[in-house]
Amino acid sequence: VGGNILLPDPLILPDGTPIRDATDWRLRAVPAWRAVCAAEIYGPAPPASPVHATLGGAAAARTDIDIAFAPSLAPIRVALYRPANPARLLFVGPNYAGNASVDRALEIDGRWMRAEPGWGIVANRASEATRGVHADRLPIADILERGHAVATWYDGDVCPDDGDLCAARGKALGVSAGAIALWAWGFSRVLDGLQQTGLVPIDKAVAFGHSRHGKAALWAVAKDSRFAGVIANNSGAGGARPFRCQGGETIGDLFRRFPHWFSPALANFAGRETALAADQHIVLALAAPRAVYVASASADAWANPAGERLGLDAAAPVFDLFGASDARGYHVRDGGHAITPADWAQFLDFFEIGARFARVAL
Ligand code: GCU
Repeated sequence: VGGNILLPDPLILPDGTPIRDATDWRLRAVPAWRAVCAAEIYGPAPPASPVHATLGGAAAARTDIDIAFAPSLAPIRVALYRPANPARLLFVGPNYAGNASVDRALEIDGRWMRAEPGWGIVANRASEATRGVHADRLPIADILERGHAVATWYDGDVCPDDGDLCAARGKALGVSAGAIALWAWGFSRVLDGLQQTGLVPIDKAVAFGHSRHGKAALWAVAKDSRFAGVIANNSGAGGARPFRCQGGETIGDLFRRFPHWFSPALANFAGRETALAADQHIVLALAAPRAVYVASASADAWANPAGERLGLDAAAPVFDLFGASDARGYHVRDGGHAITPADWAQFLDFFEIGARFARVAL
């Protein structure tokens, strides 16, 4: 983990203002910390744009929904799965390689995709080999079986995972934004669109994400009070693990491979993480008192399981202000970097405890 690292106290604002109670946290700390995190870590996002949801094809439990979110851009194509009875909870999160990658029944389309070995992506396009390649990342049938709805979309519909394409996307949206900030913003546009359809309980929405999408889910929920909870799976650096916590991916590593993810401002903190006023435990704390689940994998040294755990623990003082210590959940699964049906079983066990949702959003 890196020994006795000292993380900033979330209950003392960067200007020295002490936070004494839950009201203080809501009124002062939330806006102040959101601004600091945006300035140091994520950069800006566009203002909320009006969305327009159109229902498309439907089959069995699935409904396709196109969510138009900017006049010049193609809509976000959401695959929404609903159980037979009214959904208890609603899980929402992006996928890496198109909706057909998690649901074999869907058609492969011609969207640009980041090349990844083993995903059947040929010349930056999904192929038949991409169909179902990530079905085990999102066990749709298990989630439905337990009475919940789940919505997923291709991350590239919001922002393609590529430097030039991300810059172009920001331009189209009128802001110079990183991919994580745009993906986080996309979670909120999907919620807007789902709300329009009236098909699912948006007051019971849990944002989920694996790895880079876990980073985005945390920031989405930190900024959008409508989410009732968040799952950050193997989210690592810039996710649940504070940058100050050494071991695994560093700020320098992130910028070498993915310079388009975070604010350029974050690169200035490479090697001087202790100069950050905020850190990732504060992003986790911004979800309080809503339910937060952090999951690690024992062999995922790049993400650093102990560091992810430490980020969650360091958010505790804020949850405690609300008497919400039970709103933090964690597990470490044996094995490597992945999100599996076994992880999902634990997420569902945690979020099904209804009392976690009785808490008013900020
Ligand atoms: C890379 C990256 C991580 C990220 C991961 C993923 O390994 O370095 O920060 O979490 O990809 O998204 O799978």
